[in-house]
Amino acid sequence: NDSGRRPRGALIAFEGGDRCGKTTQCSKIVEHLRSTGVDAVMWRFPDRSTSIGQSINAYLAEQSHMDDAVIHMLFVANRLEKRDEMLRLLAGGTTLVLDRYSYSGVAYTAAKGVPYLSMEYCKSLEVLLPAADLVVHMTMTPESMAARGGYGEERYEKVEFQSKVMAAFEALRDERWAVIDASGTIDDIHEQVTSIVEPVVRCAHNGCALGRLWD
Ligand code: TYD
Repeated sequence: NDSGRRPRGALIAFEGGDRCGKTTQCSKIVEHLRSTGVDAVMWRFPDRSTSIGQSINAYLAEQSHMDDAVIHMLFVANRLEKRDEMLRLLAGGTTLVLDRYSYSGVAYTAAKGVPYLSMEYCKSLEVLLPAADLVVHMTMTPESMAARGGYGEERYEKVEFQSKVMAAFEALRDERWAVIDASGTIDDIHEQVTSIVEPVVRCAHNGCALGRLWD
């Protein structure tokens, strides 16, 4: 019984390799939710607008070099600096659709294979953050990703590395994940996303508790 509590928003994260169409699907689902009267906003991580985000941007654009542990912790800090605002929005009833989140944080760093940056260690650094109610994992072969426009411009956009990222995402999957084939048409994917997202938003509105990473 949660009498007296305001309905909370849902936390939905889109994950996947580079150029798989996450951003397009995030915008479309937010637009759809709003058209049905759901208060929803889209955010992306890394948030390149903050000073931490600007350091991350320089690293991704290969304009700066950083130790793997340091860049990893900047990605974590870039989520933590948005934590209070995230929790406030969710508690106030706003559904947050995230274009990447902690799951990317863990998968990309773990894919580097640095011994002291294991998957378990990376996960431990995210525990102050809320878990997504739903992770939409958009999958595609690294080769077909590479065939898409703009690929290869940033640091991690290399076929071999993307295969390792995909394996890391697979290791993170649990019952909150939905896997979607990203090679379909924008409209087909949007339809699938809509049917997965809507019940999760209803569940949050009805009082399902927000989890913590990695409970
Ligand atoms: P993003 O801005 O989503 O770029 P794209 O639209 O090309 O997917 O993400 C930038 C890169 O940063 C992407 O290669 C994934 C990587 N990344 C991490 O390594 N750690 C993180 O915590 C996050 C959020 C992203």
